[in-house]
Amino acid sequence: MLNTKKIYHEPVLVKEVCDGLQIDKLALLNHQATIVDATVGFGGHSFWFVKKGLFVLGIDVDEFAISECEKKLAKACPSRQHSLTGCFKLVNSNFRNIKEIVKANSITNIYGVLMDLGVSSYQLTSGLRGFSFLARDADLDMRMDKNLAVKASDVLNFFSKKELVNLFSVCLNYNYSLRIAESVISFRKTKNFATVGDFLDVLESVGLVSGKINPATLPFLALRIFVNSELSVLENSLPDAFSVLEKGGRLAVISFHSGEDRIVKNFFNNVQKRKEGVIVNKKPILPSIEEIRLNPRARSAKLRLIEKI
Ligand SMILES: C[S@@+](CC[C@H](N)C(=O)[O-])C[C@H]1O[C@@H](n2cnc3c(N)ncnc32)[C@H](O)[C@@H]1O
Repeated sequence: MLNTKKIYHEPVLVKEVCDGLQIDKLALLNHQATIVDATVGFGGHSFWFVKKGLFVLGIDVDEFAISECEKKLAKACPSRQHSLTGCFKLVNSNFRNIKEIVKANSITNIYGVLMDLGVSSYQLTSGLRGFSFLARDADLDMRMDKNLAVKASDVLNFFSKKELVNLFSVCLNYNYSLRIAESVISFRKTKNFATVGDFLDVLESVGLVSGKINPATLPFLALRIFVNSELSVLENSLPDAFSVLEKGGRLAVISFHSGEDRIVKNFFNNVQKRKEGVIVNKKPILPSIEEIRLNPRARSAKLRLIEKI
């Protein structure tokens, strides 16, 4: 069912991101500064950057999010004297193209880059894209970018047992991954995977143990990560995201699972070893108990920041 609520996504760690990217200081001392929001989504973070008078270059693969974000950021433009083009620029693209996008739009003076990884609540709950295990009848698609060639159902229909085990092992232990892979192979002997419900049938037959989270969460996450090449895109994009910053500028990354966080942590450590940047907080910044109470999706968020020197 289509989620008709107007709140498409509750942004996480907003204050922590604004503090970490030194938004108030930039607004006071360098109001010409630009922030690149590489996962602008529905503008939950960028609203505050624009409101403070900073210019935002927003990027997102999701066309719908970009069109909604446009309306939200327009409301944040601080002064009528600013034309909208003077407040922000939105680009519907993958952040793996960040360098080209910055260059093509002649954006300079970048003092902050934000990557708030994964999918928005809208993508997760709308039931339109196959991300949610709550929408059994939805097409098992999971592509954030409709131009990608391979859907989640194609993966389950055509991958070998070994490939499936590797795919699920990103989020699950080997035994569960093997059991899911075997069950996928046996399911497709009688029927092709087409809907979310088909994959749920397989997971139910495997009998994953239910803990604090729904037992379908991790298999769905693993499949989504694979379909969108999320880990390799992140690994390849971090150096480019860091490279567009001015000296003194900061890169902020919010990750939602250990695979992502490991990549961010390793990249930051290597940058610091090469003396090209300084890690701002030794430990990742986590949401408060109050934030998790109000927005349970925030529970796995981890914010890391690095400053270019
Ligand atoms: C957690 S949401 C970000 C929400 C945003 N900060 C807000 O407050 O509305 C993640 C967003 O990143 C986008 N996204 C994920 N991977 C991307 C990529 N490689 N390139 C561009 N956008 C991406 C998704 O489409 C989604 O809108």
